[in-house]
Amino acid sequence: MSSLPTPSRLLSLRERSRLPSNGDDVDNLEPSGSASPRRSLSNSSRGPERTPRSLARVASASSALSLVSNPNLSLLDSELQVVEDCKEFPVIIVVVGASGDLAHKKTLPALFSLYYHNMLPYCFAVVGYARSKLSTEAFRDVVVSNLVCRTVDRDHCEPKMNSFLERCFYFSGQYDSLQDWQTFDRWLSEDIEVRLRSSTYEGRCSQRASGRLFYLAIPPSVFADTLRGIRHGAMAREQLGAWTRVIVEKPFGRDTESYMALRDVVAECFPEEAIYRIDHYVGKPLVANLTTLRLGNFVFDALWNRHCIESVQVVFKEDFGAEGRAGYFDAYGIIRDILQNHLLQVMSIIAMDPPASPLAGDINEAKLRLLYDMKPLHAKDFIVGQYDRYRSERGVPKDSCTPTFAACVVQIDNERWRGVPFVMLAGKALDERKVYVKVAFRETSNQSFVPEELRNKRNTFYIEIQPRPAVELSFITKTPDLEGRVVQTKLDLVYNESFVVEAQDMPDAYERLISDSIVGDRTLFISDAQISRAWELFDPALKELERDPPTQPVIYPYGSKGPILPETLIKKYMAGKMGD
Ligand code: BG6
Repeated sequence: MSSLPTPSRLLSLRERSRLPSNGDDVDNLEPSGSASPRRSLSNSSRGPERTPRSLARVASASSALSLVSNPNLSLLDSELQVVEDCKEFPVIIVVVGASGDLAHKKTLPALFSLYYHNMLPYCFAVVGYARSKLSTEAFRDVVVSNLVCRTVDRDHCEPKMNSFLERCFYFSGQYDSLQDWQTFDRWLSEDIEVRLRSSTYEGRCSQRASGRLFYLAIPPSVFADTLRGIRHGAMAREQLGAWTRVIVEKPFGRDTESYMALRDVVAECFPEEAIYRIDHYVGKPLVANLTTLRLGNFVFDALWNRHCIESVQVVFKEDFGAEGRAGYFDAYGIIRDILQNHLLQVMSIIAMDPPASPLAGDINEAKLRLLYDMKPLHAKDFIVGQYDRYRSERGVPKDSCTPTFAACVVQIDNERWRGVPFVMLAGKALDERKVYVKVAFRETSNQSFVPEELRNKRNTFYIEIQPRPAVELSFITKTPDLEGRVVQTKLDLVYNESFVVEAQDMPDAYERLISDSIVGDRTLFISDAQISRAWELFDPALKELERDPPTQPVIYPYGSKGPILPETLIKKYMAGKMGD
């Protein structure tokens, strides 16, 4: 029998997640990021059987109390009820930096898709804020030129696009002008909010003040001014029960020092629970499924340790270079661009101890504990490379040593993983575009069943994050003919083949994350403490690699496999030859 939480069990979940008891404020879920990661890290008990996302939604949403007072509702019903309730609260989604690339290519299309799938509140407005002088009409033209109908049901797409565009508005303002932010605030209250409450929006909205979700799609140079502008000029009407949330995305500084400066500005303007830090890799369907795959299946859960696992690879390959954004890229390099955030996040979900529950606070705690068990990285742990054409890209100095490829072995100093190499590898301009995790199990103790030529093969659990989301388990078997050869084969779950309908409509990572931030589900967001620790882990290596004179990267041909394969790196590590 399934164990749906009883009201009292749910209440205790709610208490653990610090859901405020007035049911109005949904924002106090996560323990403060500054809490010591080693404090009270109880993690041995298995959480309830719901997915983290759905449970956190239940616990985080404003009507959790009504659920507790209505014991007749099943968890599923209550969850749907909660999402429905959230839909009645009007929300203004402000895309700051609305004339930039990120907004056009990711944020605005993601918002349209959410609208198409009825995942946005009934009463919402999307408001672009940027420096460019644009009319709302001109803004709508730019928005529509980037919208696509991903979905199967294309017929209804055009009318939906039109009604989405009617809800898009634009305001031209400077990021560093408090006066502009205040004018913006008045315009939101006196014009946009009034429209939201009018019958144009189907009269389905609650009459309360609108929540304001600010999505910062802006360069780091204007970050601080923007946060202060919002804080002092454009907050939602808190006294009327409305929330303000801010979505921010990397780069979160270049190192610990610059991150701390940024963190101070954020902390001066907003409480931690109002900040939603995105790492879009965490919102990708297969990454969001990793916890369930690992912890929902006895076979994996039981084998997930150093006694059974020999090595783990987390690999990111792109078949194009830094073209078009080399100016930005050269100041950061692949370690800051991919390893310190995307790959580290994936790795921490793969390697964390089971969280006490699927709630955001417990997942944050488990990830943080893992990050503290990781040993800081040094230059000797890395192989760095640069593709041959990189120095002739526009905006790249002729003597740039910025790596476009980096591979390292991470060591985790805890009972579960001691001695197991975790390889992180990322490269641009390689032979293919692919992101995957490969978990290699140890060899069987009785090798007499394995023919000589297969003795170096391992059972592997392969998780392809993109471009073809899939999981595969390789194993050794006999062919069914008279010859009965022993071969290696695999069991696989390819999303496109097994979830034929759902896979046609897979959400983009940004859709999932924006939707979660509106509902107040923090499970897939990154805490301040995780980012601080991530910099502590990578700072020593970055400093050593970039000191004067900097480490010369190995030059590799554009479109090749790069300077080293993950398997070779593992062998090198096993042979104690790293740093040679
Ligand atoms: C971004 C990096 O964070 O992620 C880019 O800055 C990289 O360099 C991109 O290309 C990859 O994201 P995705 O979702 O296309 O794999």
